[in-house]
Amino acid sequence: MIEQQTLYDAAGGMPYFEALISRFYDGVAVDPVLGPLYPADDLDGARHRLTLFFAQYWGGPRTYDAERGHPRLRMRHMPFPIGPAERDAWLRLMHEAIADTSAPPGVAERLGAYVDMAAEAMRNRD
Ligand code: HEM
Repeated sequence: MIEQQTLYDAAGGMPYFEALISRFYDGVAVDPVLGPLYPADDLDGARHRLTLFFAQYWGGPRTYDAERGHPRLRMRHMPFPIGPAERDAWLRLMHEAIADTSAPPGVAERLGAYVDMAAEAMRNRD
């Protein structure tokens, strides 16, 4: 039987996703557009949730579901005004984080294409 390797494993497992999302939130914390949207007193919690979500999405452990239930991400983002400026700020930080964490060949491209699609899907105002 041929087993396909998950992107989670190809990227290096949980340490890779911890590094990626940690790098991303370092940017969020000081970003003038995004910073005010995130809970200042729970950035570590936000970091934890996004790390687990990414790990699960790419084939890793299903801890996100166990802790948070079904993602329903569009619904969970409704309380936050996300227009083109917020989407683009989020994407810029995420693409920088992907570039800085030197993912193996192929992984960075797939992550980049996914976040472009997902960020536009989260937009909830013009
Ligand atoms: C487009 C711009 C985006 C903005 C401005 C944004 C903003 C936020 C904010 C303010 C939170 C609450 C922080 C927390 O307490 O967890 C959040 C949560 C979250 N976001 Fe985003 N987000 C964006 C895009 C995305 C995308 C593209 C994804 C997935 C690929 C994503 C995944 C998540 C997850 C998993 C959570 C935690 C949900 C939970 O379990 O409560 N976000 N986001």
